[in-house]
Amino acid sequence: MLVFACKWCGFIAADGAGRKRIPLTPHFRLIPVECAASVEPDVIIRALADGIDGIAILGCHLGGCRYNQANHMAVKRNELLQDLFDIIGVDRRRLMVSWGTAHEPFQFERDIHRFQQILEKLPPMDHLLKPPKFQTNRL
Ligand code: FES
Repeated sequence: MLVFACKWCGFIAADGAGRKRIPLTPHFRLIPVECAASVEPDVIIRALADGIDGIAILGCHLGGCRYNQANHMAVKRNELLQDLFDIIGVDRRRLMVSWGTAHEPFQFERDIHRFQQILEKLPPMDHLLKPPKFQTNRL
């Protein structure tokens, strides 16, 4: 899974989880971003199309964003994206959004753990992306 973490909260919480030696799954890559709202939908769609099983976006609590409540916009945008997932047959749980602070390393661990449990119940994305097998009618 890919984890886009706002550098003001989620990324620091991830660092805190590491410093506290909280056990974490090795099945994620952490990508620091300036703000949760800076994760554009096309990045998420491209990641899924490349076979990434799930995308997590970790941002500051609503009301705590450094960029004029930009994360409120991110909430609406990600809900629309999940609606699009429903239309195209991608499970909406493949996108997880969570809000926290830099001082919540245990929340970071809990979010990642829960997200991994959800993803483990879904078929791998690369399985969904395989082209359908066409049967030829042989006489
Ligand atoms: Fe953290 Fe916007 S600055 S979500």
